[in-house]
Amino acid sequence: MDILETIKKRTSCRCYQENAIPDDLIERCLEAARWAPSACNQQPWRFIVVKDRELRERICAECFLPGLPMPWAKQAPVIIVLCSKKSVVTHFLAPLLSGINYHLLDLGIAGEHLVLEAYEQGLGSCWIGWIQPRKIKKLLKLPFDMTPVSLITLGYPQQISQPGKRLELNEIAKIL
Ligand SMILES: Cc1cc2nc3c(=O)[nH]c(=O)nc-3n(C[C@H](O)[C@H](O)[C@H](O)COP(=O)(O)O)c2cc1C
Repeated sequence: MDILETIKKRTSCRCYQENAIPDDLIERCLEAARWAPSACNQQPWRFIVVKDRELRERICAECFLPGLPMPWAKQAPVIIVLCSKKSVVTHFLAPLLSGINYHLLDLGIAGEHLVLEAYEQGLGSCWIGWIQPRKIKKLLKLPFDMTPVSLITLGYPQQISQPGKRLELNEIAKIL
């Protein structure tokens, strides 16, 4: 499929079937993320694929922030925990000069590669940023240098939602 078509058709999925996802499809999604560009090619992303039901339920019950109930999240047969692993020069020193958090840019690109490939494989996905990273880190016993930045749910969609509205090109881009 044309990449622009894929980009336009992907929507966040908040209603999943219970069916497990074959491992080779999950691997394809991770492979797409692996090829993302990153500042200084540091590849500061790490992915924890949570298939275990109890762990998924605990993430949903204990690690979301309050005020935005997401009961649909525990239906998803896979939750990917998108983590950062920062390097001293690119992710601590360079931002002191530029003010730009390169690792977050990199993780965003990698995560979007992942969800676009998921869409191509017939899977639904949703980013979940309303999380408590420290609680996830503790629950999953992540090493000290790995920090959760977002979750991405994956699963076969029960229903496809319509794309949300977007700002018009002339509202977001300027040609000088
Ligand atoms: C970084 C990020 C964090 C997000 N966090 C949440 C979230 O916590 N809960 C949720 O339901 N959707 C979340 N979303 C999904 C957005 O609401 C969704 O992408 C946006 O409304 C556009 O809709 P679409 O993905 O269907 O095109 C998040 C998306 C991104 C990119």
